[in-house]
Amino acid sequence: MSTIERLPLSIDHIPEEKRAVYDAEPILSARNLVITFGRVVGLDGVNLDLYRGEVLAVIGDNGAGKSTLIKCITGAYTPDSGDVFLDGAPVSFKRPQDAREAGIETVYQQLAVIPALDIASNLYLAREERRPGPLGSVLRMLDKKGMKQRAGEAVEKLGIQTIQNMGQAVETLSGGQRQAVAVARAAAFGSKVVVLDEPTAALGVKESGMVLDMVKQLRDSGLAIILISHNMPHVWEAADRIHIQRLGGCAGVITPQSHDMGEGVAIMTGARTLTS
Ligand SMILES: Nc1ncnc2c1ncn2[C@@H]1O[C@H](COP(=O)(O)OP(=O)(O)OP(=O)(O)O)[C@@H](O)[C@H]1O
Ligand SMILES: [Mg+2]
Repeated sequence: MSTIERLPLSIDHIPEEKRAVYDAEPILSARNLVITFGRVVGLDGVNLDLYRGEVLAVIGDNGAGKSTLIKCITGAYTPDSGDVFLDGAPVSFKRPQDAREAGIETVYQQLAVIPALDIASNLYLAREERRPGPLGSVLRMLDKKGMKQRAGEAVEKLGIQTIQNMGQAVETLSGGQRQAVAVARAAAFGSKVVVLDEPTAALGVKESGMVLDMVKQLRDSGLAIILISHNMPHVWEAADRIHIQRLGGCAGVITPQSHDMGEGVAIMTGARTLTS
């Protein structure tokens, strides 16, 4: 069905039980993404294929282009050139809201929560639900009670027990709790793809573990996840494949089975090159 040629994929190191994931066409593809900022090369022609039911980790040093890559894919940046395909069809998102409407939820590294709003309102930002019947359709009244209840369920599902009151303003939450709200939002609404840029950077050990569990649950339910992280043990625990970003380019794609953490970091820093 697709006119895009798939990127070469070595399934040698993909466990037997996961191979079916790679029989299907990629849900999301990026080809030759290029973006420059003045003289800084953000991306120098990056390719990516993401499959349903996989966690694709993206690792790389500071400034390697990880955030830029996902921003170009999700409409936060417009690449100078290159193409993005969702379900085999070309897309060009002008803003993150467009990607969201197409089923791609992103938690950006710089958090997209509005501090003065409460948790429930943040979860439903830009997708507020109206009251049933004429109160909603004619008077445009928001279903605040329903949103609060469903927000509570989303947060509970993620296992964030430290958040007790959904009516609490996000500005009164701790940094980690704010991050958890953003992740809960993505998990609750991502229908095809969930992109998480450093979702556990501000989280404590227990909360990080919960986010990782949630990532695996979303993956097992058939969603495709892009997980950017500097935490190598997390990456090696949760990822099916690992895209290594280096100096604006992709230095290779490995799996936790094909390379150990030390080897992955060596490729990331340029101490070793991937010969494939
Ligand atoms: N809006 C921008 N204007 C100018 N330069 C930018 C902009 N966005 C990104 N860059 C540059 O592009 C390069 C890649 O940045 P990016 O944020 O993608 O790195 P990263 O891999 O996410 O790093 P980190 O691990 O620190 O989050 C950097 O040199 C950065 O300064
Ligand atoms: Mg970044």
